[in-house]
Amino acid sequence: MGRPIIQLPEDMVHTAEVIWALRPDLIVETGIAHGGSLIYYASLFEAMGNGRVIGVDIEIRPHNRAATEAHPMFKRIEMIEGSSAAPEIVAQVRARIQPGEKVLVLLDSNHTKQHVLDELRAYAELVSIGSYLVATDGIMQNVVGAPRSAPDWDWNNPQQAAIAFVAEDSRFVIEEPSWLFNEGVVRERVTYWPKAFVKRIR
Ligand SMILES: C[S@@+](CC[C@H](N)C(=O)[O-])C[C@H]1O[C@@H](n2cnc3c(N)ncnc32)[C@H](O)[C@@H]1O
Repeated sequence: MGRPIIQLPEDMVHTAEVIWALRPDLIVETGIAHGGSLIYYASLFEAMGNGRVIGVDIEIRPHNRAATEAHPMFKRIEMIEGSSAAPEIVAQVRARIQPGEKVLVLLDSNHTKQHVLDELRAYAELVSIGSYLVATDGIMQNVVGAPRSAPDWDWNNPQQAAIAFVAEDSRFVIEEPSWLFNEGVVRERVTYWPKAFVKRIR
């Protein structure tokens, strides 16, 4: 809908199905960039007739803010500027959640293991039982040596943060949402988000 999304399209289609199945009242996404993913999730909520989106970014560039605020889907979007794991920013997000709302959290900001682990810990309380914290872009682990990668990506990545988090918090497991339909022999999704879906089970 006119704004760039920095995602593999397959992940966006899969996430649309997760959103339809889960029917969250609120999506919190850390990492806004051009605003395209916020607009995408808001457009799904518009089609579904319910839901709103909160985006958090350490730097919302003026042209991205202006384009997002001017978009027809902005009526379902709110943006907060600041570091996503900072307690005062997490408190601002928490203050916007109404009792009983079903919350889904997508983590797509700074992808170091430590930052994602900090986010997982900080947003864990906000996620509803049955919903997910999604630690995106664990594919970093598999692309060390590729252009614009860093040598430490084999351990310093969101996938390792998710694995460490579920080892310390028994309310969560890594569980890939099932496919709607698969007549083929392929059992693994093409994704940039391996081991990303951290489900709250209690
Ligand atoms: C990969 S982009 C987000 C892409 C967007 N979610 C999408 O799908 O199009 C990462 C964003 O994270 C932001 N960022 C980096 N460190 C951050 C932090 N500590 N807290 C919040 N946002 C951060 C950057 O400013 C950048 O806009």
